[in-house]
Amino acid sequence: MRIILLGAPGAGKGTQAEFLKNTYGIPQISTGDMLRAAVKAGSPLGNQVKSVMESGGLVTDEIIISLIRERITADDCNKGFLFDGFPRTIPQAQALVDAGIDIDVVLEIDVPDEEIVKRLSGRRVHPGSGRIYHIAAKPPENPGKDDVTGEDLIQREDDKEETIRKRLEVYHQQTRPLVEFYKALAAKNPSLRFVTISGLGNIEEIKSSLKKMLS
Ligand code: AP5
Repeated sequence: MRIILLGAPGAGKGTQAEFLKNTYGIPQISTGDMLRAAVKAGSPLGNQVKSVMESGGLVTDEIIISLIRERITADDCNKGFLFDGFPRTIPQAQALVDAGIDIDVVLEIDVPDEEIVKRLSGRRVHPGSGRIYHIAAKPPENPGKDDVTGEDLIQREDDKEETIRKRLEVYHQQTRPLVEFYKALAAKNPSLRFVTISGLGNIEEIKSSLKKMLS
């Protein structure tokens, strides 16, 4: 199964990816997580992308496409993969088409901008594992601590309100056009499904909608 999760920053892609990857036994490929790991490691790639990520802009298509090309050759992608946060521009989506990488389902999680601001300003993450919490919607058992390791949770650098608004602007300009791109592609290609679900509701409700759509 090859799935693309589309949606604004904070729509809940990473949160729902957890159950999708377990359901299908496929890896979650999050370009955001890959880039954050490079920044944390202080690698040449990390140094190159750090400032653009912190400002809420997009990393170049060339960098992203080459990261993905390499990642999907790994053995764990034999049964498919779940793209989370990729593609994010028309050239990235076109690169998949040009490489003959067929997708089974494109799932859009649709959430209004004002809800996004609330979600991202309350998000906390465990940097070691990528586990995602929210101070109100999904609080950890002990405030500020990861449920599994007890280690500190952090707030992402790009989860400040001003940066969140910039990310939303970038999303509407560069990523949202992918909805029309994939609707047109699905109309021509019967093996590709395009599905939109409302991302409003609690995390369990969204999970049930996704399950229903995919069954
Ligand atoms: P990336 O890490 O991909 O960030 P994003 O797309 O902005 O998505 P997020 O991780 O912020 O949100 P999400 O939808 O996963 O939401 P989550 O589940 O955490 O990218 C970061 C940066 O990397 C980009 O800005 C860019 O610079 C660069 N980059 C990455 N990929 C790139 C690409 N392909 N091209 C170019 N540049 C790229 O949920 C959010 C919060 O809401 C959490 O606290 C969660 O607990 C809570 N929540 C989730 N669901 C619900 C619900 N139903 N109700 C209430 N709260 C909820």
